[in-house]
Amino acid sequence: MSFIAVLVSKLGLGDLCHGMRGLSNYNLSCCVNTLLQTFSATLELADLLDKWDAAGVRTDSSNVPQQLKKVLVAMRSDHPQPAPHRDFLHCLDSNRIQLSIQHDADEVFLSILNLIQKQMDNKTLALQIKDLYKISVQTQLKCLDCDSIQTLDSYLLSLPLHIKEDQNTLEECMKSFFEHQELRGRDCCTCEPCGTKTPSKQGVKLLALPPILCVHLKRFRNMRGYTRKLHCEVNFPETLDLSEMIHEAFSAEFAQNNCKYTLYAVVVHSGEAMCGHYTAYVRHSRTQSWYYADDSCVKKVSWQDVQTTYGGHRRQTAYMLMYRRDSKEEGHQPECSG
Ligand SMILES: *[C@@H]1O[C@H](CO)[C@@H](O)[C@H](O)[C@H]1NC(C)=O
Ligand SMILES: *[C@@H]1O[C@H](CO)[C@@H](O)[C@H](O)[C@H]1NC(C)=O
Ligand SMILES: [Zn+2]
Repeated sequence: MSFIAVLVSKLGLGDLCHGMRGLSNYNLSCCVNTLLQTFSATLELADLLDKWDAAGVRTDSSNVPQQLKKVLVAMRSDHPQPAPHRDFLHCLDSNRIQLSIQHDADEVFLSILNLIQKQMDNKTLALQIKDLYKISVQTQLKCLDCDSIQTLDSYLLSLPLHIKEDQNTLEECMKSFFEHQELRGRDCCTCEPCGTKTPSKQGVKLLALPPILCVHLKRFRNMRGYTRKLHCEVNFPETLDLSEMIHEAFSAEFAQNNCKYTLYAVVVHSGEAMCGHYTAYVRHSRTQSWYYADDSCVKKVSWQDVQTTYGGHRRQTAYMLMYRRDSKEEGHQPECSG
């Protein structure tokens, strides 16, 4: 046994090291550190990056998918030291996601996914990565005079949910996202069959749900030029069935049977809008235990600890939720071989 191994087992740290490595806070990198923890827990992403044979491509310090692949490999090792990720931070910096600035985790998350699409030379794999997160939606606009419907298909990579300045549940937030609204008066849109502006009903329907469902709780609100954080409570479950929760949001073309999801990562924001700190709760892929990652410090926690991020107080609050669609085999959980 090496000296480090003895020390690790004496301190009871061995448990922490199975593919759960911390990341040093390096010039306000807590936001990126936190996202890296959630990407590391998204095994489907690491698998696709592993399939990518970047050997033919020249090593490029500003290529985000290349550098992400490298850092995710380092994070999977059992090394007790924090994983090295400076190259990844500098890579983001050279892609205009600057070091030494407080970022919004959802914005950085979407930027990283977009940079993967742009910079990965194997477009088949790039699309498979997009498909992991792709929430296909249809915006519908129905004229209330002639009943004609105009539609527009598009997609989201994270579901942006408005929250009320009160108590919320994830279910209510989702329902209100898909609620159709009447547009009247100044909000009237032009209806082609009617040839004029008419009152209408507008809303979004779901066409398809992705394997990884990322939910963005919009806690930051712009008010006359400054950003305010909403600390109110948003209650979310560990498992959810969207066919029960938001069935009325499914479009006629929606064809998936399995809409059951299990939470596996939570991006947490603590503090106020302009001076906060990001941390993550992630579920270990093999043992299914929850861990809390605060930069270089990673510790085992319980589901009750994750629930402290519902909010309603000025401590830490959940900001992004990552749910994974359950595998086909009903109730099958990966075995713990520890
Ligand atoms: C952090 O940022 C400052 C200012 O941009 C820079 O001088 C310093 O080298 C950075 N620190 C590290 C460890 O990169
Ligand atoms: C993309 O990657 C897949 C999986 O590794 C591989 O089968 C395919 O040939 C690659 N396509 C190109 C254009 O390199
Ligand atoms: Zn009309």
